[in-house]
Amino acid sequence: MQKKIMLLGSGELGKEFVIAAKRLGQYVIAVDSYAGAPAMQVADSFEVIDMLNGTALDRIVDLHQPDIIVPEIEAIRTERFYEYEKKNIQVVPSAKAANYTMNRKAIRDLAAKELGVRTAKYTYAGSLEELTKAVSFTGLPCVVKPLMSSSGKGQSVIYTEADIAKAWEIAATKGRGDYTEVIVEAFITFTSEITLLTVTQKNGPTLFCPPIGHRQERGDYQESWQPTAITPTQLEEAKQMAGKVTNALTGAGIWGVEFFLADDGVYFSELSPRPHDTGMVTLAGTQNLSEFELHVRAVLGLPIPEITLERTGASAVILAHSDGITPEFTGLAEALAVPKSDVRIFGKPITRPYRRMAVALAYDQADIDPAELVEKAKAVAGKISINDKQAF
Ligand SMILES: Nc1ncnc2c1ncn2[C@@H]1O[C@H](COP(=O)(O)OP(=O)(O)OP(=O)(O)O)[C@@H](O)[C@H]1O
Ligand SMILES: [Mg+2]
Repeated sequence: MQKKIMLLGSGELGKEFVIAAKRLGQYVIAVDSYAGAPAMQVADSFEVIDMLNGTALDRIVDLHQPDIIVPEIEAIRTERFYEYEKKNIQVVPSAKAANYTMNRKAIRDLAAKELGVRTAKYTYAGSLEELTKAVSFTGLPCVVKPLMSSSGKGQSVIYTEADIAKAWEIAATKGRGDYTEVIVEAFITFTSEITLLTVTQKNGPTLFCPPIGHRQERGDYQESWQPTAITPTQLEEAKQMAGKVTNALTGAGIWGVEFFLADDGVYFSELSPRPHDTGMVTLAGTQNLSEFELHVRAVLGLPIPEITLERTGASAVILAHSDGITPEFTGLAEALAVPKSDVRIFGKPITRPYRRMAVALAYDQADIDPAELVEKAKAVAGKISINDKQAF
């Protein structure tokens, strides 16, 4: 039952997905905009194209005739996915999910308006004037995000009216996509934020992983840990919301559903229809199956009898500091000398300031305080340094 899987996006999450798929005997073609991307290093074959170019996408789909298309990133000409589904190619989790989630407006309106899921108070703005109006609707502080962006790009917080023009400027220059429209959301003063990894199946109920806590900086996660503190009521609310949204988006696979936990309840923030970066903590063996193994099983329609918490874990990112090529890692031996720790080096050939190059993992028995493991993962990460040779 070998399937031909085309992976669109070949970063570190894609790489772990490929490893999990290969372990179950699948054939994978890894695709990205540059050669030597992490997932390409472990896949059967690869293609280098601009995935926002529909013609280029059609060409490689026609050429390889995959059974399954697995998107790993958002920046893909996802409108083409509807055509691929018509041709009986399985799009993961579904063409609808990939299309809705690449635009904040589609997913937010679906969740808040159609499904009645609780979110921050929000509205949209397409110009500086509209942004000023929007701010008086949501109140201050509020968060501004381009509709098409990820990793916090183009995002900023407006604290006072004096910040409005700057927020518009940031969104207009840093967003992805062809036009500038932003979502303006009331700032939620949360006590913590979580990722609820949710697995939808072809032949089985929707399953939930123990919630993951994380800390964000500059739009990217810095540390994540599993499990994270949550009350049974909050967890139940989050599961209900994740169940509703993933059910409406249809399809099988793992989803990273993001929530804010606040004193007045749980707020749905957004979701990724794919493994989530904060879910790299599952590589520390926190669960019986990692988020990547779960994704592969769900995609192939293979059984997932249960998801169990096996131990407590934490992950801490290892970032590059400058623009460069062929990075060398030093300190790996010192890092790996720490008991109950591990490191994953992604193998990215090029560095940029703050680019995630590797991740440090720490784990211990189930009853240990995750905060201790976060400190340990950070200490392991701190032992590794990246030397990049400057590009000419
Ligand atoms: N309304 C809000 N109130 C408070 N904090 C917020 C709000 N919206 C976003 N944030 C903070 O900014 C982070 C990034 O926001 P969000 O997840 O919407 O953006 P993103 O660009 O899609 O990020 P990513 O792609 O990395 O998940 C959140 O994890 C949270 O820490
Ligand atoms: Mg997010």
